[in-house]
Amino acid sequence: MKITLIGAGNVGYHLGKRLFKKGIPVRQVYSRTLQNAQFLAKKIKATPTNKLAELDSKSDLYIIAVKDDAIETVAKTLSENIGMKRKLVVHTSGAASSEIVGKYFSKFGVFYPLQSFSKVRKIRFTNIPICVDTNKSKDLKKLLKLGKSISNKVAIINDKERAILHVAAVIVNNFTNHLFHLGQQITKEEQIDFDLLKPLIEETVLKIANHPPIEMQTGPARRNDQKTIKKHLKYLKKFPNYPHLYTLLTKSIQDAYRR
Ligand SMILES: NC(=O)c1ccc[n+]([C@@H]2O[C@H](COP(=O)([O-])OP(=O)(O)OC[C@H]3O[C@@H](n4cnc5c(N)ncnc54)[C@H](OP(=O)(O)O)[C@@H]3O)[C@@H](O)[C@H]2O)c1
Repeated sequence: MKITLIGAGNVGYHLGKRLFKKGIPVRQVYSRTLQNAQFLAKKIKATPTNKLAELDSKSDLYIIAVKDDAIETVAKTLSENIGMKRKLVVHTSGAASSEIVGKYFSKFGVFYPLQSFSKVRKIRFTNIPICVDTNKSKDLKKLLKLGKSISNKVAIINDKERAILHVAAVIVNNFTNHLFHLGQQITKEEQIDFDLLKPLIEETVLKIANHPPIEMQTGPARRNDQKTIKKHLKYLKKFPNYPHLYTLLTKSIQDAYRR
């Protein structure tokens, strides 16, 4: 299967490299900024471009990995290229509907790798769930095959399920990571080594591998240690928003045990 990759950001970069490593040819790489397209294309022996009009119709699959808000415009522009209308086109978004591509192509779908990708981080693809869906069963088989060639976990997930999964993904990953950042700001302010908290962070994640998170909760909110909670809130006043967030999360934890 020959592929055209549209987007050389965090996802495009890692997906492109993985496909290349598995011997699946990526012919052309598009990115809005030419240097980004060139950077990836050089690594995976593809042709770079920053012009959607330069993408040809010789590939079997077109993967759109641009930011959510740009997917539709990119799909529309791409559909105007010669011979493109009948091509299989998918996007990689957790949140966007497959229909935004379906408006412009008769064969469309999703190829969503459920992981947090950053260009600066090496990533192991083997266990990344690849959520696939298409409007044609023949194409679904193709996407399943492609998914299986880069990961051991491939699942057929429809638009509704994927949107829900994405909400949960934002909560467990984006919000948690933001809380790590807030914790780091506190240690920075007080000139304490943030690394001292890293074994705790690691254990937080390791624990839930074999136990439900609800059973692993510890801390003053779980114990309802009011004196400690008040002390923390008093200290946090020096950071804008922190007392509000602390109160909100404390209440959320306590509510979880009231049922
Ligand atoms: N990052 C993740 O962890 C992750 C995980 C799963 C799925 N996804 C999904 O994968 C897609 C790409 O995410 P990403 O994190 O790779 O994004 P990203 O790193 O911000 O890269 C976005 C790509 O879109 C291009 N782009 C941005 N605005 C554009 C516009 N207005 N018109 C055309 N191209 C534009 C960028 O071009 P230049 O930078 O070259 O200008 C770049 O190639 C999104 O749909 C996202 O929801 C992301």
